[in-house]
Amino acid sequence: MATPSAIIWSNNQLQLLDQRILPVQCEYLHYQDPFAVADAIRAMVVRGAPAIGITAAYGMVLAAQQITNTPASVAAWCSALAPAREALANSRPTAVNLFWALDRCDRVIEEQGNGGKLLQALTELAVQIHAEDIQINQRIGDFGASLIPADSIVYTHCNAGALATGGYGTALGVIRSAHRDAKIRGVFAGETRPWLQGARLTSWELMQDGIPVTLAIEGAAAHIMREHQPSWIIVGADRVAANGDAANKIGTYNLAIIAKHHGAKVMVAAPTSTFDANIGGPQIPIEQRPAEEITHSFGKRIAPEGVVTSNPAFDVTPAQLIDAIVTEHGIIHQPNRDKVLAHLAAAQK
Ligand code: MRU
Repeated sequence: MATPSAIIWSNNQLQLLDQRILPVQCEYLHYQDPFAVADAIRAMVVRGAPAIGITAAYGMVLAAQQITNTPASVAAWCSALAPAREALANSRPTAVNLFWALDRCDRVIEEQGNGGKLLQALTELAVQIHAEDIQINQRIGDFGASLIPADSIVYTHCNAGALATGGYGTALGVIRSAHRDAKIRGVFAGETRPWLQGARLTSWELMQDGIPVTLAIEGAAAHIMREHQPSWIIVGADRVAANGDAANKIGTYNLAIIAKHHGAKVMVAAPTSTFDANIGGPQIPIEQRPAEEITHSFGKRIAPEGVVTSNPAFDVTPAQLIDAIVTEHGIIHQPNRDKVLAHLAAAQK
């Protein structure tokens, strides 16, 4: 059984698979309002950098649908769409795919805002971003799989799978392609506190594809690496900076440090839409999530009332700890600023 789509666009309506209740319940929520879409991104109904970008593009389509008196100019469209654009842009700060998708919508507004076909053009763009993402992930998967030795144990964190993207996944795309090539003996999935993307989503996705997966708690990572010698730690990214530093789910940095000690290699699998050539790793904005996510578990308090908390949703793994960044255009080995910028320049040709 294939993983259900995280995002469905049908009859000019958006449906999002509610990832907060997976895998116990599999339910789609329907959206016609861009502000509700922004809330859904913030609340993690939909999550994962590419999926957030695709959803934001559909959010802009819903915003354009709501405007009944068709604006006659680019400026009038921009001001009519500005509140929805701002709400979407403020939903989550780290995944740069969100801003990449909104920028692409801005370009279409610039190009088409003076004619009467903007709604159609925005819809075509969102559908294209969605469809392209699946092909991009298949290419990432194949490039990444070429690095995996036969009979490998690999280790992944969070969920960078079909559920986090238009389909197939980035890190899980690499694992899917490597499994297709009969290179995977087993996958360890870290549970990924506090949202449990590894426990709830990654292990579910891999089991549906018949890929042997073992779920483990975060704190077991060093022990597992010593005992099972994974060849690669394979993760996605929310933002890859110009110098090759990569922001991903909190705990990725820990894994990269542990991997160095145990001789496992670290692969970041991400489309070029996840790159931000304008900043270095230390400048990547790190989302702080509400305290309740760690003081409570499934609605029940587990920490003392009034405890001081820190709940960063992402961390930044320095490029020096990354062996390969894999995009739809190929592999950046031992990434650094020159290699990243050369890769992005070649990708634009
Ligand atoms: O908080 P989340 O679930 O949105 O975090 C997701 C991740 O960290 C993923 O690894 C990343 O977005 C890449 S998804 C292909």
